[in-house]
Amino acid sequence: MNEISIEDLPGIGPATAEKLKDSGFNSVEAIAVASPSDLAATADIGESTATKIIAAARISADVGGFETGDAILRRREDIGRLELGCAEVDTMMGGGFETQAITEVYGEFGSGKTQIAHQLAVNVQLPVDKGGLNGSAILIDTENTFRPDRIAGMVEGLSKRHDMEYDPEDFLKNIHVARAYNSNHQILLMDTASELADSLRDTEKPVRLLIVDSLTAHFRAEYIGRGTLADRQQKLNKHLHTILRFADLNNAMVFVTNQVMSKPDAFFGDPTKPIGGHILGHTSTFRIYLRKSKGDKRVAKLVDSPNLPDGEALFTVTPEGLFGDQ
Ligand code: GTP
Ligand code: MG
Repeated sequence: MNEISIEDLPGIGPATAEKLKDSGFNSVEAIAVASPSDLAATADIGESTATKIIAAARISADVGGFETGDAILRRREDIGRLELGCAEVDTMMGGGFETQAITEVYGEFGSGKTQIAHQLAVNVQLPVDKGGLNGSAILIDTENTFRPDRIAGMVEGLSKRHDMEYDPEDFLKNIHVARAYNSNHQILLMDTASELADSLRDTEKPVRLLIVDSLTAHFRAEYIGRGTLADRQQKLNKHLHTILRFADLNNAMVFVTNQVMSKPDAFFGDPTKPIGGHILGHTSTFRIYLRKSKGDKRVAKLVDSPNLPDGEALFTVTPEGLFGDQ
């Protein structure tokens, strides 16, 4: 599709290209959505040069300008739907979780956020007629909660449901996991994720799912106290926009998790409100509030969506994956 590399942009010599790449501006798309001041500081160039480079990048990457309604319609026609395999939840989501969007799920510990992430990483690999996107998954794991054996259990569950003999190994091979050790590392991993998605784009299993579990835990742990809140929100906001761009560029579904406090907390206010507050609310396209019900049952409540009615759906966590309530 886009074969232009950043060296091809006017005003970028080899030395500047090197500096930009070192700072994560390794594609024309990344430069197209950068701010002139960021780019100038990164590459040691004047702001007016940076502005020109960005303008050129926008033209060749075909981003940043106004789009006509029919172009948006065409892009939206590509939107895929990833099914969780729990009928009520999938119906609530209008037939599955949309690509080109961020879905944020928030809920207290043990509410099933990580379980949903595992199930989606499996399901995304299924063919479209089985509710998948025939793609692979990238997982940014900030809490070290990825469990290969959980994936294997879920694949076994699917084998029974579909009357197939799926091989767990095959599924594990298409889940690319990176641990993020702190919030800066988490942000940087998005560059690696983009490179990985680029390299898999023309393969049998292009990246169709990005998971960040948890999106907010590092930010919450590192930025403590009122004085640092604005700083935290700003970083988180920028991170989310990178993530949203990833969703658009790769026609990927993005699934991010967010905690709620189980106890009222002086810094974060309402215990049932997600960490990250309003900024996160505006960026994530779909928001789901998850809560525990009896035993292994969970309730997912769609609380925010651009085009779907709010609703509630029940599902059950089992060793063989998540199931709808029959
Ligand atoms: P935090 O990351 O701590 O905020 O929680 P979370 O929302 O990610 O919770 P997670 O998805 O890890 O859910 C954990 C819960 O899933 C456990 O409390 C169990 O109830 C359930 N669970 C996990 N594995 C299994 C399993 O193999 N079988 C069954 N029945 N339940 C499981
Ligand atoms: Mg979790």
